[in-house]
Amino acid sequence: MIAVIGGTGLTEPHFLNDIQIQQVSTPFGQQSVQVLIGTLDGKQVAFLPRHGRGHKVPPHKIDYRANLWALQKVGVKAVIGVNAVGGIHSETGPGRLAVPKQIIDYTWGREHTFFAEGLDSVTHIDFTQPYDESLRALLIDNAGDTAVWPEGVYGCTQGPRLESAAEVQRLQRDGCDMIGMTGMPEAALARELGIAYACLALSVNWAAGLTDELITMEAIEKVLSKGMEEAIGLLRRALQHYDSITAQ
Ligand code: HPA
Repeated sequence: MIAVIGGTGLTEPHFLNDIQIQQVSTPFGQQSVQVLIGTLDGKQVAFLPRHGRGHKVPPHKIDYRANLWALQKVGVKAVIGVNAVGGIHSETGPGRLAVPKQIIDYTWGREHTFFAEGLDSVTHIDFTQPYDESLRALLIDNAGDTAVWPEGVYGCTQGPRLESAAEVQRLQRDGCDMIGMTGMPEAALARELGIAYACLALSVNWAAGLTDELITMEAIEKVLSKGMEEAIGLLRRALQHYDSITAQ
């Protein structure tokens, strides 16, 4: 089964039918995780709102391990993470969608691995290509009329505050094309579990300092609702064409 992890602007699986709620207990955190499982064209699709239902958990407090663990427990083999981002590259202006190819992780203090305790031996996963190419292709090939930038480096910052202008300049020098707060450790944890993972990024603002304007939640929300409609259209088409993916 494939799953969508929804982020800011995508907290309910309105694109699915016959939704059932599964409450999954995990060894992480205090709470169990609610996974919503519905159908799209007769195929089962799971949905998990990364920030919790009601969008209350900030990026640095999300229990990424519990989320991924719960998805694996209900039989998920592939995940599309939907992330709102700030754009740096000229192809990532507000309202634009991208399927990034690479990641740089700037987060700190997050529980970021399943391989920490009770190990038979120290384990290092390969993360040369952080995203699954087949899943990326599924998104890119089903873009239809929607313009999608099929590349880019996603820089994951800690949040919840936005960046300073100097930080954005540094991120740009590092090679980041877009910045978000939730792409990591999600992608790496999926890899640790052998779950194929790709990201569909929606730019909701130019990153700090790239324009003269301040970044306001009002401006972000305006771009978010329209952009997320496009993202959902693309997701629907991609999910309809998902058969199965052999995780790397
Ligand atoms: N920076 C980091 N994360 C974000 C941004 C941004 O500008 N916009 C949306 N998520």
